[in-house]
Amino acid sequence: MQKRVRLPFFIGVAGGTASGKSLVTKKIIDRLETTAGKRKQVISIHLDSFYKELNEENLRKAEAGEYDFDHPEAFDFDYLIETLEKLDAGHSVQIPKYDPGLYARSGLITIQPADVIIVEGILVFYDDRIRDKFGMKLFVDTDADIRLARRVRRDVGQHNRPLSLVLQQYTRNVKPAFEEFCQPTKKWADVIIPRGGENDVAIDLLVQHIQDLLRTPRGSPDLEQDLARGASLEDTIE
Ligand code: ADP
Ligand code: C5P
Ligand code: MG
Repeated sequence: MQKRVRLPFFIGVAGGTASGKSLVTKKIIDRLETTAGKRKQVISIHLDSFYKELNEENLRKAEAGEYDFDHPEAFDFDYLIETLEKLDAGHSVQIPKYDPGLYARSGLITIQPADVIIVEGILVFYDDRIRDKFGMKLFVDTDADIRLARRVRRDVGQHNRPLSLVLQQYTRNVKPAFEEFCQPTKKWADVIIPRGGENDVAIDLLVQHIQDLLRTPRGSPDLEQDLARGASLEDTIE
């Protein structure tokens, strides 16, 4: 029998810094949009948007490479779950746009409800309320040396940070927090993607599976529930 899913279908993408979460997410979205046509809308949300705002003292620490952006305390998980609940109920939401270069929010973006909502970030499986929202949980697993090399290139090249501070932040905070908080959440994953964005075989298999899940059979018991939640007939019938 064909499986059915409730829309929106939430997918979580976790993994260490620079593992390729954003690239995997982009590839999934591109391929779903190409193959599922205009009938399925797919969007992504980044956990960065839910960083707590820094007071002056913490901003100074951040600029000195001493603020721990990788600890669960750095994130406002209540705000994220509220946001996901609203999207689940079919409402559009405004979420902060985050600028890592400024260590701050840099405006708001409006997120419209969609058929598939991908939430990516280092700790998206950490809080069970968020974890439980996901119909599919992916963990991007990339070698730590490769992640460090990418991270250095990104922080020095794109964020203009001094190499010494990037390495200090990595050894003091990023690496220990990955081992304590992120790595253990791999156990919640349905699928572990080795090598991240370059793993086209895994990404193609996932896209195919997501399409199968989205193909709701006509007259299914979920149909009335989906319609009551505001989905159109076209959304619910393949
Ligand atoms: P994450 O979202 O997990 O932090 P990203 O997808 O943003 O990781 O990738 C981090 C950096 O590494 C980016 O600059 C990206 O362009 C680069 N990158 C990601 N995957 C690959 C890859 N397979 N090969 C080469 N560079 C990559
Ligand atoms: O995209 P990625 O998963 O790498 O984003 C999370 C990482 O961003 C964390 O490891 C954190 O140290 C880093 N970060 C940062 N500066 C900020 C916000 C986050 O270096 N202002
Ligand atoms: Mg990213």
